[in-house]
Amino acid sequence: MSQVSIPSLLKKKQAKQAFAVITCYDAGFAKLVEKAGIDAILVGDSLGMVVQGHESTLPVSVEEMAYHTRCVARAVQQPLIITDLPFGSYNTENDCLRHATTLMQAGAAMVKLEGGSWLCDSIVKLNRAGIPVCGHLGLTPQSVNLLGGYRVQGREDDKAEAMLRDALALEQAGASLLVLECVPQKLAAQISETLSIPVIGIGAGNVTDAQVLVLHDLLGVTEKTAKFVRNFADGASSIEDALVRYKNAVEERSFPADEHTFS
Ligand code: KIV
Repeated sequence: MSQVSIPSLLKKKQAKQAFAVITCYDAGFAKLVEKAGIDAILVGDSLGMVVQGHESTLPVSVEEMAYHTRCVARAVQQPLIITDLPFGSYNTENDCLRHATTLMQAGAAMVKLEGGSWLCDSIVKLNRAGIPVCGHLGLTPQSVNLLGGYRVQGREDDKAEAMLRDALALEQAGASLLVLECVPQKLAAQISETLSIPVIGIGAGNVTDAQVLVLHDLLGVTEKTAKFVRNFADGASSIEDALVRYKNAVEERSFPADEHTFS
C-alpha cells in the first residue's frame, strides 16, 4: 500500500471502491493496522472511553489527543491519520485553529470536528492554514448531554433535511471527509450520493463510501457494544487477521449487514 492521501480516498469514492477506517491510539496497534492495509486511522476521542475508562468523551484534553497522535504517527507511514479535536477545544475560531495546529504538529494529517454549519467559518480558517478537515454529523458523542443519550439521529423528515443541509455546508466550507454516525441507511445513502467528498459511516449502513469502527469494539474488547458493531476477532487467528477480515468485509460491503443497520 502506498501512502494514503485525500486525493487517493476521493478516487476510491469516484471508483465506488469502499474503504476501511479504524480508530487507534498507540504504536503497537497502529503497526498492525498498517500491516492489514487499512487506509486511515482515526485517533478518536473515543479513547476517553476505551483507553481511559471515562463514561463519555468529554474529559479528553487536547494534550491527551496530541500524545496519542504522536504514539500512532511514530509507528506508521501509509495510513492517513485523522485526529479528533476534543470537547471544548474548538468553541471559537481561534481556539479551533490553535488546537488543530497542535494536533497537526503531533503527526495528524487531518483533524475531525463534530457539528454542522456553525463550524463553516472555522473550517475555512483551518483550510487556509493548510489543515484538512473531516466533519462528523448524526450522533455526535461530544453533544451526548444535548442529545439525551447515544441515539439514532435524523429519523424525522425535518431532522434528515437539516442533516443533509449541514453536510452540504461542511463540504462547501472545505471539509474533505465526513463521518456519519448512527443515522438511518436511507439518509446515509442520500448524503453519500449528494456529496462529492467521501462519507465514512458508523451505524449508517453499507451505503456510505467507507466505514469506521472503534478498534476495541471490533476486537471484542468492549463488553457491551452497539447494534452496529461486529466482533471481527470471533473466528480470527490473530489480531492482524481480525483487522484484515474487517477491511475485506468493508471493501466487499458484506459489513455492515442488515442486522447492523438502522432504518
Ligand atoms: O472518537 C471516535 O472514535 C469517533 C468514531 C466513533 C467515529 O469519532
